[in-house]
Amino acid sequence: MIEQIEGINIAVEGCFHGNFDEIFGTIREIEKQKKIKIDLLLVCGDVQTHRNKHDMFNMACPIKYLSMGTFYKYYEGKEAAPCLTIFIGGNHEASNYLREMYFGGWVAPNIYYLGDSNVIQIKKGNTTFRLGGTSGIFKIFDFNNPKLEPFPFKSEQLRNVYHTKQIDLFKLSLYEGEVNMFLSHDWPQQIHQHGSTKELLKKKQNFEADIKSGRLGSQPHKFTLERLQPDFWFAAHMHVKFEALVKHKTGRQTKFLALDKCIAGRDFIQVFTYTKDKKDLYEQYAYNEEPIELFYDSEWLSIVHTTYKLLTIWDKIPKLFEYNPVLKELQIMKKDKYEEFLNEKRERMKIFGNHQLKIPHNFEVTTPPYDEQDNTIKGLVPPKRIPLNNQMKSYLNLFNESGQELNGLIFYEPDQPRVIGEFVAPDFLQKQIELENQKEILQQQDLKQQQLEEPSSPKDDELNIQDFPFLQ
Ligand SMILES: [Fe+2]
Repeated sequence: MIEQIEGINIAVEGCFHGNFDEIFGTIREIEKQKKIKIDLLLVCGDVQTHRNKHDMFNMACPIKYLSMGTFYKYYEGKEAAPCLTIFIGGNHEASNYLREMYFGGWVAPNIYYLGDSNVIQIKKGNTTFRLGGTSGIFKIFDFNNPKLEPFPFKSEQLRNVYHTKQIDLFKLSLYEGEVNMFLSHDWPQQIHQHGSTKELLKKKQNFEADIKSGRLGSQPHKFTLERLQPDFWFAAHMHVKFEALVKHKTGRQTKFLALDKCIAGRDFIQVFTYTKDKKDLYEQYAYNEEPIELFYDSEWLSIVHTTYKLLTIWDKIPKLFEYNPVLKELQIMKKDKYEEFLNEKRERMKIFGNHQLKIPHNFEVTTPPYDEQDNTIKGLVPPKRIPLNNQMKSYLNLFNESGQELNGLIFYEPDQPRVIGEFVAPDFLQKQIELENQKEILQQQDLKQQQLEEPSSPKDDELNIQDFPFLQ
């Protein structure tokens, strides 16, 4: 008798680019052909969750490429995702909507955004794993500026908002548990060295210069990959399928897979089964029918609570990382302060203990969805106020935080005075803030210089502000 496989059937997808109907259609087709049920779809960014025209204009992209996509139908409930779908953000997103869901939340029924960075737990019957992820793409000039952009965004900030933030790297660096799968949009730096660079260059000759200069991929992701050493790392962005196997010094291994974008005939989807014994199977599937459920991870909750004080000074966050040009590595700036955060996190973990907190299904429609019949400017005009999303409110309640300090970061209530100015930073931060302020002029000059020197990436077209009349 053949032993029945217990596990989770997973599909991983590269860049979504708003093609909800097409990709969900592909999932249904795979299910029909293979006579299986896909339990989970993991998406590596460029999802484009546009609820309406205003969201569409909050995506940084030349106007000729702007399109509504089909997400709004899932948002208002006219269409439904065929399976639980979890995604991180890339560089083509409704950045306003994702900022409202900063800590991670349901953007539509059964479609969960992991947030700027996160670790959660996924369970189906006896199979369980931890999924981590971080949104955005790496740009050194924005990474070196650790402050976060005020919300709602002005057109000139639409690119900065999705650039990798130091605070996300810091939060991930505090994680000491085992992460099984990890999602990012761009690739960890030097990942090509762990796969066939020759094959990669055959498909993408234009990567050669970046590979030679060591610029291909993200430094923060390399840092996270080396620290978390997840069993799997999935990425997208470069629009090519690429596999690698990273053998860490500890003996752990990471299977890396990057996928293409959703175009017929391209490698944009990978299906595999993750078993209860933590094995990955291909062309062998699980048929156990328990529901798939999401849980908060107590260590991650402890990290969010510990680093909340940094978030309340989001427009003054000091530098947490520095690039070491000799070692060509990112280093945590103040080791002793890092240790303090680490110890505080460990203490908080005792409070959360091993409680299994289910992620509630608390999605709510919070803004009018796109109306195909409506040709007026409705939906183009930015809302006057953006209340704290109900999901973020209940998330922050886990820490007894009202979230009011995050006005202008994840919600916008202009009638209320901003409380961030009244925040008194802890001593060590205060000193650093003063130092940072003194360096401000020099940094600005430096930033301008770096922006001039930064070659334009083929994935990162220049934003023409003239093309965005509604955001000026
Ligand atoms: Fe991308």
